[in-house]
Amino acid sequence: MPQPSPLSRRAMMIGASAVAAWVSAPARALLAQGPAVPNSHNARIEDLIARMSVEEKAGQVTIMAAAWAGGAANALNPSSGAKSSFRDQLAEVRRGRLGGVFNGNGAEMARQMQTIAVRQSRLKIPLLFAADIIHGFRTIFPMPLAEAGSFDPDLAERTARVAAVEASSAGIDWTFAPMVDIARDARWGRGIEGAGEDVLLGRLMADARVRGFQGRSGLDASDAVAACAKHFAAYGAGEGGLDYNSVDVSERTLREIYFPPFEAALDAGAASVMASFNELSGIPATANPWLLTDVLRREWKFNGLVVSDYTADFELIDHGFAADEREATRLAFLAGVDMSMQSGFYLRHLPGLVKDGEVPMARLDEAVRRVLSLKARLGLFDDPFRRIDPAREKERVRTPDHLALARDAARRSIVLLKNKGDLLPLPRSGKRIALIGPFVQGQRELIGPWNVYGTDADAVDLLTGVRAAVSDPSLVTAVDGTGIETPIAGGIDAAVAAARAADIVILAVGESQKMSGEAQSRTDITIPPAQMALAEAVAKTGKPIVVLLRHGRALALHGAIKQAPAILATWFLGSMSGPATADILFGLTNPSARLPVSFPHESGQAPYYYAHKNTGRPNPPGPLKEYKAHYREAPNAALYPFGHGLTYGKISYGGLDLGSGKLTGDGELKATATIRNTGRYEAVEVVQLYVRDIAASLTRPVRELKAFQRIALKPGETKQVSFILKREDLSFLGNDFRPIAEPGAFQLWIAPSAEAEGVSGTFRLT
Ligand code: BGC
Repeated sequence: MPQPSPLSRRAMMIGASAVAAWVSAPARALLAQGPAVPNSHNARIEDLIARMSVEEKAGQVTIMAAAWAGGAANALNPSSGAKSSFRDQLAEVRRGRLGGVFNGNGAEMARQMQTIAVRQSRLKIPLLFAADIIHGFRTIFPMPLAEAGSFDPDLAERTARVAAVEASSAGIDWTFAPMVDIARDARWGRGIEGAGEDVLLGRLMADARVRGFQGRSGLDASDAVAACAKHFAAYGAGEGGLDYNSVDVSERTLREIYFPPFEAALDAGAASVMASFNELSGIPATANPWLLTDVLRREWKFNGLVVSDYTADFELIDHGFAADEREATRLAFLAGVDMSMQSGFYLRHLPGLVKDGEVPMARLDEAVRRVLSLKARLGLFDDPFRRIDPAREKERVRTPDHLALARDAARRSIVLLKNKGDLLPLPRSGKRIALIGPFVQGQRELIGPWNVYGTDADAVDLLTGVRAAVSDPSLVTAVDGTGIETPIAGGIDAAVAAARAADIVILAVGESQKMSGEAQSRTDITIPPAQMALAEAVAKTGKPIVVLLRHGRALALHGAIKQAPAILATWFLGSMSGPATADILFGLTNPSARLPVSFPHESGQAPYYYAHKNTGRPNPPGPLKEYKAHYREAPNAALYPFGHGLTYGKISYGGLDLGSGKLTGDGELKATATIRNTGRYEAVEVVQLYVRDIAASLTRPVRELKAFQRIALKPGETKQVSFILKREDLSFLGNDFRPIAEPGAFQLWIAPSAEAEGVSGTFRLT
């Protein structure tokens, strides 16, 4: 049987037809074949390569953190311990010993460096300016995990576009984003940068973010930035949720779970890929030829640039994989890492390795060609200053449009977890409101981790947002009550007094910005004890409490927080955090987000995710659990599962229609449900379609998300929602890793979350 090409295989893996339009266009798949470099540039690139010294080539494949102009910061090189000043770096640029710099200081710095590169270096090759633009540049959008909860790839594309417009006006050509790592372990702090636990949502968000960053008019547009799908691969699967930790997962798990968002990013045309820090079953990703060459280059035909993570080649020594710097360089470079970030190893060791015949010149030329091709695609050979414009840098950031989008994105990322007795939305007048907790006032804990260019001072806090939303701001009081991890003397007394004097308490508790993000793993995903003490004391007043969670991950909720009648997940929402939260609290906008990660009952359930296997002894509903897959202390289920999120409407699911109940050959199965809003408020419902393959030649998850639709329902409105399933939507990777769809029975749910029943039925694939 002829092997399907990797591209058609990718197309087959795209998922339910209802959403396939986002990712499956063959034109996009073609982009992954390799970057289109204008012909005129090919000759120029080859000419440059022919004229470059081996040292200049090693310089091209080296990128360093920028030392900031004016000497404000020196760039430290952790592998050598050396610090370089801006002057040192200019000298390196002049000598052709740098291909680019990252996380620099704006257009003026870029202008000075680029001027030296294109006027004073021997070959006049422009520099690449890279940066971590993760969720906004100066306008900060919700952290990517929160935004994934919008279940709205179009929104993710639009926020990435604005981030690119702002960043590119400050001289940035290339973002180290999107992070497309599937993250199923809430202990890992870097889940905030991705799209959560689900493969379909991960693919759609990867696709959207790449398209947003790179724009739709070509990478040479002055407002396009090249995207970088990171971290390849399985960085989110570190043992114990510990950042940088070893990963030991099967090839099947890689191909089914961790690879698909990378494939989607490449299909969308991502110009680069970053190798991850972790090892994979004994071989660090940074020196893994199977991963970086066999899979990425040969199978997926990716011809863009592969960059290391920060000093990851240096780290091969601590991994116990390379004996010394020179060996680390050789292993990373020959495995497929084209460009080395921050260690300086390539610059130091590639010339000697080539001279001694340990690295072929052809491999060095190939890597240089990829760097130069990216520069050409970005239009830098035509105009090296196309993104460097100090005037535009001031005008194009934090515009009213961008801030309006930040507010809208924040609103669409807030998840209503619970709303007992319809406590929400709150009335805008006539009630005394006490805002209590360490997150109610001040600008410090709003924008979230991974912000290189956003500033706290530009973010709007909850108190400001609430005061602007109510008719009489004098009825709103604010008390911290406690610090995030340390009590404040007299804080609880003050908070209790404020609660007693109010009609409604809004209690904002959770994690600090420092508690998630890189290197911020937790063993315990709960709210710190100082805040729990505050919550218990405030709850004893008997006042109605609305809990606002601040968090970079799924949390395990306990005590007064869990028992509160209303709970909203408000993550880190960025620049417009306070006004957006107020919009939801007072019903100016109805909540429409859904959880992109499951909230377990307890930390010890980690990694908890909905698409787990059934086991031979599944956990039965009801009390008789002896010798079944259950925990002594907690249910083997989520408190709030993936996909969960309420509206202010009252939504019911009914009337499942599966037509003939059969999907035959190349035909289709149409699954329809009736969704009704019997409540008093308008609602946006995210209608989710899950499938389970009942018996297959390889065990399948208890449920897999295949498609979703966001629908708006007016009070009293009923809508029929239909999904079309095709054979390929039911396929999985067989023993030979080729997609197969096996005949037999499938269960299907159209439901409001991954663990809700919604409406369900069975059908057969024949
Ligand atoms: C992170 C990358 C990031 C790089 C440069 C590393 O520590 O893992 O995601 O792009 O630093 O800032």
